[in-house]
Amino acid sequence: MAAEARERICKLIRSGMTTADLDELGGEVIRSMGGVPSFLNYRGYPGNICISLNDEVVHGIGRRDRFILKGDIVSVDVGVSFEGGVGDTAKTVYVGDDPMPANIERLLRFTESALEAGLAAAHPGGYVQDISRGVEMEAKRGNLGIVEEYVGHGCGMKLHEPPDVPNYVQHRKGPRLVSGMVLCVEPMLNLGSRRVYMESDGWTVRTRDGEPSAHFEHMLLITENGTEVLTRV
Ligand code: MF3
Ligand code: CO
Ligand code: CO
Repeated sequence: MAAEARERICKLIRSGMTTADLDELGGEVIRSMGGVPSFLNYRGYPGNICISLNDEVVHGIGRRDRFILKGDIVSVDVGVSFEGGVGDTAKTVYVGDDPMPANIERLLRFTESALEAGLAAAHPGGYVQDISRGVEMEAKRGNLGIVEEYVGHGCGMKLHEPPDVPNYVQHRKGPRLVSGMVLCVEPMLNLGSRRVYMESDGWTVRTRDGEPSAHFEHMLLITENGTEVLTRV
């Protein structure tokens, strides 16, 4: 449901709409499927979904005065609660049908391929760090800044569960990957420096240098024999 909602919401993006318009539509899409927007009221979050434009990294709140325009990139992060379960998935899209500038194309292509590399690096019996290494190596191949302050996470019963899934290799290997785990893998990568700051609204995260940022997120189930991505369409 979260994957379906993500795709339907991204198809509704039009140049000229506000991020508040898209948030409203996001709420309608999720509820029309019988779900509840997981982010609404989560730690006081005021939106149905997260909408982050250009230099906004994650957790952008829909606003009446924030217009989506041709040439923008829009990160759409969707959470759906249904029958006691939670889905969480995100992608970044380019607005308009002009060809993408080369640097934006590189940002989107490598953020998505970093996600895929992280997913592909996971095996039952391995470690969470394998995922981090997969993401980091691909992000570096694309010469992108890796945001360190926000990480992937366990998910499924609640929106955020242990363990953390960092997008770069730390000293600890993290827990072993065992059958039944569900992890959100979600690189947040910047065209410029990795440095970010929190806006005064207490939610929106932005790049310090004003360069654009992208975010792709899938949920990964570890099984007996391998892995399964739960949020493909
Ligand atoms: N969806 C985000 C994540 O991927 C969390 C959003 S929390 C909210 O983990 F409160 F901002 F909605
Ligand atoms: Co998310
Ligand atoms: Co997440």
